Amino acid sequence: MTHTLEFSAEELLATDDIEEPLLAGGVRCHGGFLHDGTYVSPRTKFRRPALTAWQDQHRKDFGTEILHAPVETWPGNYPSVEQARLLLRHGVREPIIANLTRIGTVEGFGAMIRFLAPPDMQRFFDDDIRGTALDHLSKGLVEAHARDEAGHGDEAGHDRMWYAVRDIAFENPVTQDETELMMQRMGIAFGASPDPDGARQRFLGKRAFEDLDVGLELLISTMLRVLFVEIKAFHVFAWAEELLSDPDLVAGDGEATRLVSFIRADETPHVEYLRTALTEMRDRTFVGESGKHYPGADIIGPMWDASLAESLGLLEDQNRAATVAELELAVSSRPHGADLLAEFHSLAEPPAD
Ligand SMILES: [Fe+2]
Ligand SMILES: [Fe+2]
Repeated sequence: MTHTLEFSAEELLATDDIEEPLLAGGVRCHGGFLHDGTYVSPRTKFRRPALTAWQDQHRKDFGTEILHAPVETWPGNYPSVEQARLLLRHGVREPIIANLTRIGTVEGFGAMIRFLAPPDMQRFFDDDIRGTALDHLSKGLVEAHARDEAGHGDEAGHDRMWYAVRDIAFENPVTQDETELMMQRMGIAFGASPDPDGARQRFLGKRAFEDLDVGLELLISTMLRVLFVEIKAFHVFAWAEELLSDPDLVAGDGEATRLVSFIRADETPHVEYLRTALTEMRDRTFVGESGKHYPGADIIGPMWDASLAESLGLLEDQNRAATVAELELAVSSRPHGADLLAEFHSLAEPPAD
């Protein structure tokens, strides 16, 4: 029996019949609970089986595995659970609060991807792309992703869900103004609306394949960056679930941890659709603007390597630097601030080779 490989956008955006909605700190979130109490992620009624079907079909047609980078490729979360516990035991909550706010804000930025998928992907490939995740990017997949990250209608998505995690664990620690300042210090444009034209403009100087459609190359580059953020996020979830379940350090009786576990469940389809569509491109032949043909592996391979190197290098360094800056600011006016800082750094795991 062959299962269908074609899905409408409506189907890819459809949620299972939910008995009870998910509420977090009084905020209505996406997803919800079935009659037996199981949590179901939003918009996965068809999206989940579709992803499995496209992956199986790809293996059958091309005999290759789906691209993957295991979470162990990245070092654990910074700060570590031990480092974060040290800070909280000393009442230094600001860097953790800033971290949770930054995660939520960056999740919201994920919605940008909805502006980047060209409606007709077929014209960029020599081979037929019907019945693939690739063909469904602009037909429901990136829109489902965007709604998961930034919410839709009255339902909060991951950005507000992380703010709820923070507000439950630390009992509404920041005002909107403080949040804005905090994000400014971390170099994040809080509250900025998506700017696809600006992104396209900035990307012009970073192109590696001049003969490809610029929108296509920007889409692939964004998909790779987001995929690596999504995988790395599983370190963040493990960190947050462990730290926030400690009733001696945070409020909420485990509610914050529970919420993080739902966000974690929602992320799996994001990882799956991105790596599937990237694999489908890798194993096909691209058609350049000049009409010239390029093996997909010659495009996806180098772009994968470059993006992974950036994720492990520059982006990791920026993340650490932002955390340390928030920490130094928080302890600067404290009597034993320097000692605490030294102890914090002494708990750091040695950098991976
Ligand atoms: Fe997310
Ligand atoms: Fe995600």
